[in-house]
Amino acid sequence: MSPTAVDPTPNQIEAEFQSTIEKLAKLKPIGHSRAKHEVITGGDPDWKDKLPPTTKERYEKYNVDISKGYPVIPPNDKIPKFVDEAFEIRNKEYPFVNRAKNADPEKKALFGAAKDVIHLSPYIGTEIVGLQLSDLTDQQKDELALLIAERIVVFFKDQDLSPQKQLELGHYWGQVEVHPQAARLQDGISIIWQDYQSERWGIGLSFKNSKKGNSQWHSDLVHEFQTAGITHLHLDSIPNIGGETTWASTYGAYDKLSPAFQKFLDGKTAIYKSAHQYLDRANPLKGPKHVEREHPLVRTNPATGWKYLFVNRSMTVRIVGLEPAENDLILNYLFNIIETNRDIQYTFQWQSKEAGSIKNDNKQKHYSGVSAIWYNSVSNHSVIHTNESLSNRHGTRVTSLAEVPFFDPNSKSQREALGLPLN
Ligand SMILES: [Fe+2]
Repeated sequence: MSPTAVDPTPNQIEAEFQSTIEKLAKLKPIGHSRAKHEVITGGDPDWKDKLPPTTKERYEKYNVDISKGYPVIPPNDKIPKFVDEAFEIRNKEYPFVNRAKNADPEKKALFGAAKDVIHLSPYIGTEIVGLQLSDLTDQQKDELALLIAERIVVFFKDQDLSPQKQLELGHYWGQVEVHPQAARLQDGISIIWQDYQSERWGIGLSFKNSKKGNSQWHSDLVHEFQTAGITHLHLDSIPNIGGETTWASTYGAYDKLSPAFQKFLDGKTAIYKSAHQYLDRANPLKGPKHVEREHPLVRTNPATGWKYLFVNRSMTVRIVGLEPAENDLILNYLFNIIETNRDIQYTFQWQSKEAGSIKNDNKQKHYSGVSAIWYNSVSNHSVIHTNESLSNRHGTRVTSLAEVPFFDPNSKSQREALGLPLN
């Protein structure tokens, strides 16, 4: 007798389906499913020769080896494919050393050594003049951590900073984030390179579509178990015009709300999503989805003790416990407060004003880097892009993750703590 075919059981079908999905997922990174070109993992062989001249100069000066390709995407088998795998990354408490805690509130070591300290607007943005980041003592780094927490963003121009030293600074301020799949110089040092990102990943920034990618209001890494604290972007190649970054203070946004509405929001939590996507193991045919995590909607900053709104339009999914219509109304209202109140924002021009001169040739000929160091979770940021600002905008970015997010009901708002009028 010949054997008769037996229909597979539902469990067998399910097992075969899972195995097929896993095989498919191994073929290429899922999070880059919208990429314009085939994803090249490892060092990119085509782009290493397209480095802007001043970046090249910086890398050569500091013996950064890009001979195996640049930038680098982790090998495919190291990139998580499923959303539960991505969720597990850093999904437990990492001891956070609050460097600002022991800092001199007057910051005498930092300010004393600087040629000048310039507050750029009343409540956000400070420039430190005449100090090299690579020369800071630990005491100065502690004071800088406090200054960043108070002023949201601190700028250092005319910097000569190796990527290695930038990473070292990041390690001093917290657990350095290593992205599971974004382009990097090495683990912990992400790349901001508009030409590459537009061309390789098809972000598609153009004059008609200038509100894409990092042009949208956002804060980084809000889906992490411990979200981004101090982020340090060092641009080593700056276009002659455009590409400004705007930061908005969410201490300030919280202070814009009525006491009754503050009270309503205090203690609520919200769901936050990742920028990159992964497959849902339970429903892989539905397509990639974001990692999601719950955090307090109003948080207390551990360095200043001030309350702030932890929301941003790109990455906040919903407020827990509200009906969808209530959620949309309230979140949009909060996003608008952050995005439209110019007095709690500062827009930074990366290049010297003279770079845009039509009378003098002041183009950036040699490497002289500019650093912006900001408290990521206490702010939203966005880049002003034009077609003209996309070319040769290159930098390295290091993010130090901070504390496990918390809300202290006894903490004060910035204006309460500073004794400023609340109306
Ligand atoms: Fe960003």
